[in-house]
Amino acid sequence: MLVSSTRFMGHTVPKPLESRVEQPKSGPNRRNLFGALGMAAVGRAVATVPAEAQIPANAPTPTTLDVNGRDYRLVLDTRTTLLDALRDHIGLTGSKKGCDQGQCGACTVHVDGVRVLSCLTLAVSVEGRKVTTIEGLAQADGTLHPVQQAFIDHDGFQCGYCTPGQIMSAVACIREGHAATDDDIREYMSGNLCRCAAYPNIVTAVKQARDRMGPNAKETA
Ligand code: FES
Ligand code: FES
Repeated sequence: MLVSSTRFMGHTVPKPLESRVEQPKSGPNRRNLFGALGMAAVGRAVATVPAEAQIPANAPTPTTLDVNGRDYRLVLDTRTTLLDALRDHIGLTGSKKGCDQGQCGACTVHVDGVRVLSCLTLAVSVEGRKVTTIEGLAQADGTLHPVQQAFIDHDGFQCGYCTPGQIMSAVACIREGHAATDDDIREYMSGNLCRCAAYPNIVTAVKQARDRMGPNAKETA
């Protein structure tokens, strides 16, 4: 686990860096004093590292990602997002890039069964964890997941651009037990925007899938 995370409109997103850094209190104290002395020592140490020994932030880094049950060995710039790794390096383009800044939900995937915004997640941070994308939701014989089927049955989309993210979010929403009422579904799917405004049909689709997945939904992919 390389990044701290928090919940936002149903999604797990990395915490902003500032909120993970303890803010110093005003005025001198033991912690500030020793911290300052420590930083001075680190500064001297860094200054003595030869320039050629420093690793640039964009240095290619070998990374293995487990996506939909298959290992992909990649060499990535450590700043590569999970969304770009999936789309541009692995070739799984089902996860969509809408806003690329955590506001639309089009890029939603699951990491260890929890929905995350892949545009806000560094690919290297999910090494060793199980990533599931829309391409990994149906069964091997092509049978659609109940949520996929429900979106078709109830026209839960128009242009379809938001649909992979909506479906991944809906699967998680049902598994979390957040699909008991229409209001719950609207609230816990609110991180997924649909510019075609297919919202009423999406709610109906989620309810059908919830009923078909039944009480064992938590164990269902
Ligand atoms: Fe990730 Fe919009 S593309 S939230
Ligand atoms: Fe077009 Fe949702 S179906 S954006």
